[in-house]
Amino acid sequence: MDKPAIEGGTPVSKEYLPFSPPDIGEEEIKAVTEVLRSGWITTGPRCREFEQALCAYTGASHAVLLSSATAGLFLCLKLYDIGEGDEVITTPYTFAATANVIIHTGARPVFADINEDTFNISPSQIEKRITPRTKAVIPVHYGGHPASMVEIHEIAEEYDLIVIEDAAHAIGASLRGNKIGNGFNPAVFSFHAVKNLTTAEGGAVLTNDEHLARQLRLYALHGQTKDAFAKQQAGDWQYDISVPGYKFNMTDLQAAIGLEQLKKLERNNKRRESIAKRYTSHLVQYDFATTPAVHEHIVHAWHLYPLRVDFSKLTIGRDRFIEALAAEGISSNVHFIPVHATTHYRMTYGYEPFDFPVAYNSFLREVSLPIYPGLSDRDIDHVLGALTNLFDYYKK
Ligand SMILES: Cc1ncc(COP(=O)(O)O)c(C=O)c1O
Repeated sequence: MDKPAIEGGTPVSKEYLPFSPPDIGEEEIKAVTEVLRSGWITTGPRCREFEQALCAYTGASHAVLLSSATAGLFLCLKLYDIGEGDEVITTPYTFAATANVIIHTGARPVFADINEDTFNISPSQIEKRITPRTKAVIPVHYGGHPASMVEIHEIAEEYDLIVIEDAAHAIGASLRGNKIGNGFNPAVFSFHAVKNLTTAEGGAVLTNDEHLARQLRLYALHGQTKDAFAKQQAGDWQYDISVPGYKFNMTDLQAAIGLEQLKKLERNNKRRESIAKRYTSHLVQYDFATTPAVHEHIVHAWHLYPLRVDFSKLTIGRDRFIEALAAEGISSNVHFIPVHATTHYRMTYGYEPFDFPVAYNSFLREVSLPIYPGLSDRDIDHVLGALTNLFDYYKK
């Protein structure tokens, strides 16, 4: 058995394997350069093209590009008139943005624990948290695995709740043959640098609700009746402000990157899937490791590969284990620190870490492995080689 690098042995990989670098090629560089030379660099024709391409890809009727998924989640809540005195139920097992936007509207974030297998919000836990003040639910398609939308839809119908899907991780994922984004509810995607499809920063709301799409467009750009490109095209300087909107628009520079990224998405997501399969087929042999579940009737976007390890069976804890992997030249990460256990949420709402035991226990055991299209077969060998050495060395 090789001694781990952190104990003085030789690292498995000579070069440090990054966690989630963007897949940017000459196509994106050329597309951005063309926009830079075109004379129009902010919201304009590339944005319209990217919106149409997203609709064509997902089947959704409308796509509204925005500066981020955070902006999209916030705008949707505002447009559904959620604010002071309301409660919005979401998962604690997410990035803070999902819950922060609820606070920004003046409403109260209420958490519901997750299902152990997929890390996604549990429908039965949602039902337990409903009060007369509950107005909406924000499920997250964690890591790219669709949440239990059929059950969540039934609960929403019964209690008359709005559902906004946090699809930050889920571009390309589908449920029962429908791409995420082409469902009953608005779905909010992130195109942040680490996502399966990136525009460096950016996001989009996909919806089949025309009224919502029109409102999103209006509110994303000051509440102006015409955007700058429309004004220039028409040679018409007139505009009006019909509502006090925000400044959440995407630029043509970003949309140009997005258009190229979308062309590669299916191929890249397939590669992600094949990496996940290799990880799982090797790691199932360890009874102290739990590989991520994949339900029937779904396509997983494999934004994350969250491995759970029962560290009580090892002589090393999770944080030291991540340091040991780094010493082997392998980066890893943790997704996520449950939001309710962070300082603001504990101090403001009085949450304790084990108030949501499944989420908190998952967090204590979770290690996200690198998964991205640029990961070579050799890189996968290195990740699995490092894990094997560490498991064998530290096994009790
Ligand atoms: C689940 C989830 N929701 C929302 C966001 C926010 O996305 P953005 O950075 O585009 O605002 C993130 C970002 O990582 C996320 O992971």
